[in-house]
Amino acid sequence: MRSSGLILGIETSCDETAAAVVERGARTLSSVVASQIDTHARYGGVVPELASREHLRAIVPVVRAALAEAKIAFADLDAIAVTSGPGLAGALLVGITYAKALAFAQSLPLIAVNHLEGHIHAVLLHERELALLQNVGAPGPDSGTRESTNPDEPALALVVSGGHTHLYLARPAHGTWTYTLVGRTVDDAAGEAYDKVAKLLGLGYPGGPWIDKLALHGNPHAVPFAFSQIKTKVHLGGAAPRTKAAKTAPIAQLDPHFLFSFSGIKTAVLRYVELHNLRPEAESRRETLFAGPDAPADSTIEQALAQCEPQTLDLIASFQHAVIGDLMKKTFAAAEALGIRRILVTGGVAANRELRSRFRAESEKRYVRVAFPTLALSTDNAAMIAAAAWPRLQSGEFASADLSADPSLALGS
Ligand code: KG4
Ligand code: ZN
Repeated sequence: MRSSGLILGIETSCDETAAAVVERGARTLSSVVASQIDTHARYGGVVPELASREHLRAIVPVVRAALAEAKIAFADLDAIAVTSGPGLAGALLVGITYAKALAFAQSLPLIAVNHLEGHIHAVLLHERELALLQNVGAPGPDSGTRESTNPDEPALALVVSGGHTHLYLARPAHGTWTYTLVGRTVDDAAGEAYDKVAKLLGLGYPGGPWIDKLALHGNPHAVPFAFSQIKTKVHLGGAAPRTKAAKTAPIAQLDPHFLFSFSGIKTAVLRYVELHNLRPEAESRRETLFAGPDAPADSTIEQALAQCEPQTLDLIASFQHAVIGDLMKKTFAAAEALGIRRILVTGGVAANRELRSRFRAESEKRYVRVAFPTLALSTDNAAMIAAAAWPRLQSGEFASADLSADPSLALGS
């Protein structure tokens, strides 16, 4: 029987076609991401039909590139892992159908991975890679990897991306992990707020990297945005609202102190823009700025800076300061309430520099450890999918032949 510990991960849940090869959930041999930002940027958001079409175009070359970069052949693999949800139905189906066909043709087991669990494993993968680099321990034949931190310590995971702002209690159990939902957004995800505010201000898509860079040039205390305490019963009538991650949450059963809401701040930014007549300036930026498929280059940011009044930069800095403050307040409060001393922050917004430095500073004050993925693995990728599949491969938890996409797949209980 083959036992290379090599898993090919495939991720197509949104607007990135990604494939990666990871060894024993602890060493990334390759991670290829084909971004569709170019396709969606002009619409200011992801267009589902276009996403499926682009995945179809990219999936074969992306998987080939992942194998080539890892310098392996299909025959070297132990399993294929694929994201089965949550995400866009048509986009997920492209990855699932391709992974199924590949698994069948190569007689390999197929492992279904929840995208959110993948984001959490992006941090665990990085922790293990750091441990390997520090020569704390090399992966044994079947034992996985030792970590510099205690790998069996439960963690509070904040998944903060374009589709999610969810807090999970993650607990290791018999070589695998279990998850309990602790908090979540009742409306927009934090990344969605970044994207909508950037769009409103005539900046590029996705908005996070633009706001991240421009916020450095404004006064974060200029506009006092406030988050009010969410009252579940009044606000929701006790029912779970429809959001992008709908199926998940019996929101009324969650502690309201750990609920997030980002639609209010988006409206507050809109009001500020109108009140201070910042719209014409935003429109002129919209016509002139273009970032291309990658994060905005320094020269584009310079160009944006030259086109921003100080008031706009203050607004951007204040928006970011308030959002991060709210993420921190609720995450640290939940950790304290649960007696957890290990926090994992992951998802696209976890790439944010202010977020990283403020979470680090606060965790030092509170004697709590905080960990992030590498910058590249903060946003969607397939290495996190292959890493999350490793415990499943060991426990023989394989997907059945009728695996299908589940756009609102929940994580844990
Ligand atoms: O995890 P991800 O790639 O996809 C989802 O699963 O949603 O996250 C994408 C989100 C977008 O909303 C994007 O604006 C945000 O992450 N993002 C950032 C940064 N980089 C990406 N937000 C704030 N600061 C960043 N540096
Ligand atoms: Zn994601």
